[in-house]
Amino acid sequence: MVFFAGFPYASCLPTLLLLLLVSAHTSTAASFTTPWLRDVPLVATGLIKRAQNTTTIPAPIVVAPSQYWDGIDGPWSSFALQVGTPAQNVRVQISTASTFTWTIYDGGCPPGYVTDCANSRGFLFETNKSLTWTPNSIFNFDFEVNLNMDTTGNAGFDTATLGWQGAGGPTVSHSTIFSIKSSTYWLGGFGLNPRPTNFSTFVDPQPSFMQQLKTNNTIPSISYGYTAGNQYHQTPIFGSLVLGGYDQNRFTPTNVSFPFFTDISRDLLVRIHSISTNTSFNLASSNLLPSGPISAFVDSTVPTMWLPIDACEAFEAAFNLQYNEALNMYLVNDTLHQQLLATSAAITFTLTAGDGRTVPITLPYGAFDLTLHYPYITSPNTSYYFPLQRANNTQYTLGRAFLQEAYLIVDYERQNFTIAPCAYDNFNPSNADIRTILSPDTVLPNSRRSRFPTGAIAGVIVGIVILIAALAAILWFLRRRKHTEKRRVAELEAKEAGGAHADHSSENESKPFISNPIGGELGGGEIHELTAPHKPFAQEMESPHKIDPNKAGYSEMESGEYFGPGKGFAHEMHGSGPDVFEMPGSDVHEMPGHGEGHGLK
Ligand SMILES: *[C@@H]1O[C@H](CO)[C@@H](O)[C@H](O)[C@H]1NC(C)=O
Ligand SMILES: *[C@@H]1O[C@H](CO)[C@@H](O)[C@H](O)[C@H]1NC(C)=O
Ligand SMILES: *[C@@H]1O[C@H](CO)[C@@H](O)[C@H](O)[C@H]1NC(C)=O
Ligand SMILES: *[C@@H]1O[C@H](CO)[C@@H](O)[C@H](O)[C@H]1NC(C)=O
Ligand SMILES: *[C@@H]1O[C@H](CO)[C@@H](O)[C@H](O)[C@H]1NC(C)=O
Ligand SMILES: *[C@@H]1O[C@H](CO)[C@@H](O)[C@H](O)[C@H]1NC(C)=O
Ligand SMILES: *[C@@H]1O[C@H](CO)[C@@H](O)[C@H](O)[C@H]1NC(C)=O
Ligand SMILES: *[C@@H]1O[C@H](CO)[C@@H](O)[C@H](O)[C@H]1NC(C)=O
Ligand SMILES: *[C@@H]1O[C@H](CO)[C@@H](O)[C@H](O)[C@H]1NC(C)=O
Ligand SMILES: *[C@@H]1O[C@H](CO)[C@@H](O)[C@H](O)[C@H]1NC(C)=O
Repeated sequence: MVFFAGFPYASCLPTLLLLLLVSAHTSTAASFTTPWLRDVPLVATGLIKRAQNTTTIPAPIVVAPSQYWDGIDGPWSSFALQVGTPAQNVRVQISTASTFTWTIYDGGCPPGYVTDCANSRGFLFETNKSLTWTPNSIFNFDFEVNLNMDTTGNAGFDTATLGWQGAGGPTVSHSTIFSIKSSTYWLGGFGLNPRPTNFSTFVDPQPSFMQQLKTNNTIPSISYGYTAGNQYHQTPIFGSLVLGGYDQNRFTPTNVSFPFFTDISRDLLVRIHSISTNTSFNLASSNLLPSGPISAFVDSTVPTMWLPIDACEAFEAAFNLQYNEALNMYLVNDTLHQQLLATSAAITFTLTAGDGRTVPITLPYGAFDLTLHYPYITSPNTSYYFPLQRANNTQYTLGRAFLQEAYLIVDYERQNFTIAPCAYDNFNPSNADIRTILSPDTVLPNSRRSRFPTGAIAGVIVGIVILIAALAAILWFLRRRKHTEKRRVAELEAKEAGGAHADHSSENESKPFISNPIGGELGGGEIHELTAPHKPFAQEMESPHKIDPNKAGYSEMESGEYFGPGKGFAHEMHGSGPDVFEMPGSDVHEMPGHGEGHGLK
């Protein structure tokens, strides 16, 4: 015992004691917020430094909605985007099909066009006021061509940041932007498709926003979770977008995954097995897809459903709809609108991945209760409409109206996607449950076992010796200060038990994981994990973004600090047990206050 009297790390003993307590109960650390875990780097930094070339895994990015309802064929929940230098704020729709961003320029609002035109179009991006705008040339979108919705814009490159100013959203400095005046798309659009955009003026394909975020190690993988949001449940539910993961709180899980279609421009192709309604004005027509299954492209860019003519006729019979040949739309007059609301009809789309397993997505009539405004229609200048369009077999599409009740998860690296029914019974947006999608090429700690460097093993052995020494020292320590320490131990045990409980309750097993935090590993004896890469911990210590939460890729380890009102982005990383990330209980991305003074009203 004399040896321990001169133990040079006596001041670390409380820390080591706590580590031992933690490891005795669970191999995970409960939280990064307790001050004692902050001491761990004193012990572990050397080991981390010795690890081979490591990259940290960034947390998924939760993109806050703009909290506005926009569009002349909506209402639709829009998202905020800052473009140019100095940044100009615009509101855009999410486009799952587009590989680029487009914005409206002042030519899109000629004098006397629409009252409050700029606001109605989500505000204008005036490229000639941006110091960083790099013009390219005038190009076709080369996009939605099969729907006759291609248009032309002034292509160029500029800085783009998702979210309102000050919200700390991800930035891409050389992002492809089309500046348009056409009303084909009333609002601007933000493209989620990670394929590059090709211009004849450039030899190289221009990388997409998503690809650049991944290249920059700002998102964990090229993947996203998206749903459009809606207004017809008890409370309005804004759209939800997560980059590099998804929000488990938003949907009922299914066991069906769709592979990408071979034509990459129609990658999100699903098989619609049937469409049916539980209420019909015409009892014979509850089958709304009379000629059998079709394949349709899921695309948030367009509002409506594009279905075969016989399906449209079945809808007409079921809901007494009348086709307006001039507009190619189903307008709904006030009388019919009241009748349809009174039926409380629901329409169920049954999707199948081809292996017999099916996913039913049920949309209440409210999902189809939408409104057209001037200049989409002129006389009268506003009308209800049913978002259905007659299509030929190159055009079948499930648009944004469908995504009001469907949650879409797309994994570009595994080339598959999932469509799950939204879960809006007892829905609370602040219970966000963000799950990470890791790249398939992410090297997880377990697979590095065999390549473990000997230097690190030596370090681990030293660590274990120190721990044994510490244990002995603690026994001695306890004996000396029995009374006070006993009380402290009891408190800590209680605390740890609570944290461990939270860890085990939250997640399922099949999802990806990131290594355990160091605190648990030291005690757990899992040697290989000590020098594993991707430490949430290492990220906190070494992140160049630590000081600036506005920088892309910033991951905050401690909850709270960056989640005050107006902070739209939650880059939250926890390293708890088998779990990857869990959101704190606080409101993360659904901010209660409307219009945080964005100056856009
Ligand atoms: C570390 O990674 C960077 C970028 O991934 C690479 O350029 C560098 O060569 C790597 N260094 C080592 C020692 O592997
Ligand atoms: C930008 O261009 C518009 C016309 O497109 C013009 O009216 C405006 O004055 C220009 N602004 C600047 C700062 O050059
Ligand atoms: C990567 O991120 C840094 C810092 O956020 C940014 O300055 C840089 O422009 C980004 N790279 C690309 C290709 O956008
Ligand atoms: C651009 O060209 C590349 C190949 O050079 C291709 O992979 C990509 O899909 C093209 N992008 C679009 C939007 O067609
Ligand atoms: C998929 O889930 C459905 C119900 O949710 C179940 O009936 C079916 O057996 C499951 N299929 C597989 C292969 O797990
Ligand atoms: C409303 O539309 C329905 C069919 O869509 C039609 O039968 C009815 O006559 C219309 N009512 C009025 C007042 O125009
Ligand atoms: C149709 O289904 C919806 C949603 O499940 C339900 O609210 C409605 O009452 C049903 N209508 C009939 C006539 O069963
Ligand atoms: C729409 O029509 C009404 C009445 O016909 C008129 O008062 C209103 O100004 C019009 N709105 C637009 C945007 O043209
Ligand atoms: C489908 O309709 C579009 C637009 O009307 C048309 O351009 C296209 O040729 C049609 N395709 C077929 C196969 O009929
Ligand atoms: C993609 O496939 C993998 C492996 O089959 C599966 O684990 C994953 O859930 C699928 N992802 C999506 C978004 O469907």
